Formats: sequence, structure tokens, C-alpha cells
Amino acid sequence: MAKTYDYLFKLLLIGDSGVGKTCVLFRFSEDAFNSTFISTIGIDFKIRTIELDGKKIKLQIWDTAGQERFRTITTAYYRGAMGIMLVYDITNEKSFENIKNWIRNIEEHASADVEKMVLGNKCDINDKRQVSKEMGEKLALEYGIKFMETSAKSNINVENVSTLSARTHGTVNLIRHEGNTPQGSSQGVKISEPQKKTSFFRCSLL
Ligand code: GTP
Ligand code: MG
Repeated sequence: MAKTYDYLFKLLLIGDSGVGKTCVLFRFSEDAFNSTFISTIGIDFKIRTIELDGKKIKLQIWDTAGQERFRTITTAYYRGAMGIMLVYDITNEKSFENIKNWIRNIEEHASADVEKMVLGNKCDINDKRQVSKEMGEKLALEYGIKFMETSAKSNINVENVSTLSARTHGTVNLIRHEGNTPQGSSQGVKISEPQKKTSFFRCSLL
């Protein structure tokens, strides 16, 4: 059967419970927002195909539960991810401080070459802000990873994050992850032409 996409990228969302991981994914996949908090149980995923530079890119985005009790299940998914998005809530300083612990988790459980990106979500509620944008930028710089503030509610930067992820996670990881297909299915990453190497900092999309 003919493939409906050129590339498949597997991305993972991690971060404390309540920071908005599911909402960011919901905004991206359904272009909608729900203000009711329904904490994720274990793990879930959504798929959306986007077009980038004339190529159809299928993004398979895994949404993990932030609650500690699901940690064993969720960390099992780190290994297969090409890119990991670490999310904190700009109105919750603790969730920002915990980003360092989440990075440590990645170092323990993910592939060494996994691409990372930090997202400061809920930037629509500035009056309750506890983490400045500069703090987010500083942390990301410290770890040498890309940073962006987002709002699932007001639809700020969600599309940019996804496109940027596809571009960077994809181009950097494509070749390394050849053959890393989901459940050994035929939905592999197809490499049909040499890929330009692009780092987060050289990305010119935004
Ligand atoms: P777990 O599944 O427990 O790990 O939490 P989560 O990170 O998936 O959080 P979720 O997406 O369920 O959102 C938690 C709460 O924050 C919900 O009440 C959302 O409506 C709210 N929320 C999420 N994103 C935003 C945002 O961008 N702005 C505002 N104002 N609220 C948000
Ligand atoms: Mg969730």
C-alpha cells in the first residue's frame, strides 16, 4: 500500500502533572482547548501529518502522565523517541525547577542523541506568572537546548513548536533512527534523499 507520508517522527511530551502537556497536544491535533483538568493515565498518543518543504511528515506525539505513580510506564517510552519536549507551567515555579529532574530522567532512559526542547506553557496567564521568560531561556541555554513559551489555551506557538520539532528532530535524528519503526510495522522512516543537518540554533523557520 502506498505510504501517505514521507517521514515519521516520534516525539514525546514530559513534565509535571498539570503543566498542560495534554492540552498542548490537543491544540495541535484538534485545534481545540479544554479547561477541565483530566489527568492522563499512563500514556496516550496523537498523530498529525504536516507538510514541510513539500514533504509530508507524520508526527506521532506521545503524551505521558506527569504523575509519579506512572513513572515506570512512561519512562519505558523514552527510548523510542526521536525528540522530547519538556514542559513546565510558567505559573508554577516548582514545575520549572523540576525540569532539571526531567532532564536527568532523559539522560538515564532516552537515547543519548535524543533532541530536547523546553516549553514554558500557559503564557496567556501573565498575571500569575512565577517564571520569567528569561529564566526559561537561561535554563535552555545552560543545557544547550531550544526554548519556547506556549499557550495551549490561546494557541500561542503550538504550531511553531510542532513544525520546529519536525524540522529539527527529524533532520538531526532521521538517519540515526532508521529502522526504528513502531511495533515493527511497515511505518518506518523513509529516507529518500540526503537530509540537511539542522540544529535548533540554526533553524531558520521562525
Ligand atoms: P497530566 O496528564 O496529569 O500529566 O497533566 P497535563 O500536563 O497533561 O495537564 P493538562 O493538559 O491536562 O492541563 C492541566 C490544566 O491546565 C487543565 O485545567 C488545562 O485546562 C490547563 N491548561 C493547559 N494548558 C493551558 C494554557 O495554555 N493556558 C491556560 N490558561 N490553562 C492551561
Ligand atoms: Mg495529561
